[in-house]
Formats: sequence, C-alpha cells, structure tokens
Amino acid sequence: MMRAAVLTSQGDPNVLAIQEHYTKPQLSADHGVLIKVKAIAISSADLMTRRGFTAGPVITPPEIIGSECVGIVEAVSKELERLDDQVAETLDGSHGAKYRVGDVVVGLMGGMGRYFNGCYAEYVVLPPGCLSAPLTMLNATSLPMFSDSTLSFGLLAAIPGAFLVAHGILVKSLQVKSTDTLLVQGGSSAVGLAIASISKGLCGLNKIVGTTRSKEKVTRMKAAGFDTVVVLPREEAVPSSAKELAGIIKEKGGELSGFTTIVDLIGATNIPVSLLSANLSGGSRVCMAGMLAGAYHFEEPFSPMGIVSVRTY
Ligand SMILES: NC(=O)c1ccc[n+]([C@@H]2O[C@H](COP(=O)([O-])OP(=O)(O)OC[C@H]3O[C@@H](n4cnc5c(N)ncnc54)[C@H](OP(=O)(O)O)[C@@H]3O)[C@@H](O)[C@H]2O)c1
Repeated sequence: MMRAAVLTSQGDPNVLAIQEHYTKPQLSADHGVLIKVKAIAISSADLMTRRGFTAGPVITPPEIIGSECVGIVEAVSKELERLDDQVAETLDGSHGAKYRVGDVVVGLMGGMGRYFNGCYAEYVVLPPGCLSAPLTMLNATSLPMFSDSTLSFGLLAAIPGAFLVAHGILVKSLQVKSTDTLLVQGGSSAVGLAIASISKGLCGLNKIVGTTRSKEKVTRMKAAGFDTVVVLPREEAVPSSAKELAGIIKEKGGELSGFTTIVDLIGATNIPVSLLSANLSGGSRVCMAGMLAGAYHFEEPFSPMGIVSVRTY
C-alpha cells in the first residue's frame, strides 16, 4: 500500500484526495521500473488533466495524475534486467540505460498521469522511455548551472520539464542563432523563464524580450535573461479585434515589433498579436508552444494575410 493524491473527479484542486492505502503499483513488462517518488513538479499539463481538458486522452477518475517527478529506483523488472544495454531507449533519446536499484532518476511525460497512473504518489512504475539520469538530462540543455550534482530533489523535479521544452523549442526546432531577436509571449511562465535562460546562456542572443501581465514579475524575468520586459495590461493580453491589436503595437512602438523569432506560450487567441511582432521584411518565425489562455485551436477561420494588413490602421 502507499499514499497517493488521487483525482476523484475533474475540477479545482480540492478534487485531489489524499488516500493512505492506495494499492502500490506493480512492475510489468511495459512498465519495468518502480520508483520511490522523492519530489514532483506540477506542470501545466497536469493542471489541464485535472480540469478535464480533453485535447489529450480522456481520463476517468479515480486516477493518479502527475507527469514530472524525481525519485529513486526501488525495483526493476526481470524483462528489463535481461535487456541488452543497447536496447532500452531513454527519455533523452539515447540507448543503453539500464536502471539499477538505488539510481536517482528523473521521470517525465510519455503518457505518465494521462495514459497510465502518474506520480502524485509515493510510488510510480514507468517505462524506461520516461526516464533519464538527472545529469544526463540536464546536460542535454548544456547549461553550466546544471553541472551541479548536489541539487535537491525539489529543484531536480522542477527543472527538466521547463528546460527540456525550452531547449526543444529554441535549439532543436527553431535553431536560433545569436543574431536572432526573440520575443516570448507569456515570458513569466516557467517555460518562458527557461527560454530566456537558454537564449542568453546557451544561444548568446542579445535581444530577448518577454511579456507579462504582472509588473511585480519584471525583476525575476530580467534575472532569468530577458533584456526587456513589456508589461501588458490584462485586458490587452488577448485583444479582440485587429484594430485593437494595431493600437497596442503602435502604442508599444519598437518594443513589440520587428522580431526574427517569436515564441507564443499564450495560445491560439494570441497568435495575431505575435504575427504583428514579426519582421515585415520577412524571414521571421512564430512558434506557438503553449496555451496559457486556454485556447488550443483557432475558433474562427484564420488568415495570416489578414493579420499583416492590419498594419495599415
Ligand atoms: N509545447 C510543449 O511541449 C509544452 C510543454 C510544457 C508546457 N507547455 C505549455 O507552455 C505554457 C507555459 O507552461 P508553464 O508550465 O511554463 O506555465 P506556468 O509557469 O504555469 O505559467 C503561469 C503564468 O502564465 C501567465 N498566464 C496565465 N494565464 C494567462 C493568460 N490567460 N494569458 C496570458 N498569460 C497567462 C501568467 O503570467 P503573468 O501573470 O505574468 O502574465 C502566469 O503566472 C502552457 O500553456 C503549457 O501548456 C508546452
């Protein structure tokens, strides 16, 4: 038996109920690593699952959610033990990890807490594809601050999700160069802060601008790597018309325009704003990688050409 925070239905945080005698998960052929969970991170994906967002798999409570954790290997399945070192594929894409009892591991995504029981519990069983040794994973971001092997479990749990996503967006997908200028819409989020950190520390960008609706976050955002922080009034964070958009850009002047790279974490409703911030002479990229405002899909027919013409207002 184990303690677990069990999702009893979908909604506010109070739908999570601590149960003292939940059945401890068992090893299986697919889920061959039993982990004693030491710390979890609560990700935006977890919040969406808890609230019943249905773009992913529909889960039917009672379930254990949670998609990011750090812990210690308590047992490994016989099937996995027998595997050749070159066969077990790991979260960071490498082969050859053979987890042993006592190893510290990071567990992340791969369906955890959505397709199968997650980590809001004392124990979780995971496939190797969800796992990485912490330093292997953190080294993948190539940031010197993560070469420290003495990070607490709490810090270790908080870092991988945001930094792997940020690294994937900037380095693997957009392949930003030091000459790029970057705007991060939703820059105060965990992913936004990680993007600023990697842009500055790893990619060497000189113009990194982030937006927030909360002026008390400006200092923290600058400490993370943003050169400039633009505070948008809450009601203007998601403008409702093209004319309104044009007004904001005009008012903010150069602060919000002419970027070669825009990462939008606010979501579909904000993409028109992000497109307006692109370089009119061409070559800019706008990457939607989040949905902080809750919109995943475009509700109305979407025309980038219509957006560009708004500059004539
Ligand atoms: N693509 C991927 O693989 C991937 C992976 C992980 C996360 N994500 C997505 O990335 C986004 C950021 O995740 P996170 O965990 O870093 O978020 P987070 O840390 O929870 O971000 C919270 C902040 O977002 C801002 N925010 C909240 N609602 C907003 C709204 N309606 N409009 C504008 N800003 C709003 C607020 O900042 P201010 O008050 O300062 O404005 C809030 O403090 C999420 O949408 C998440 O789903 C994507």
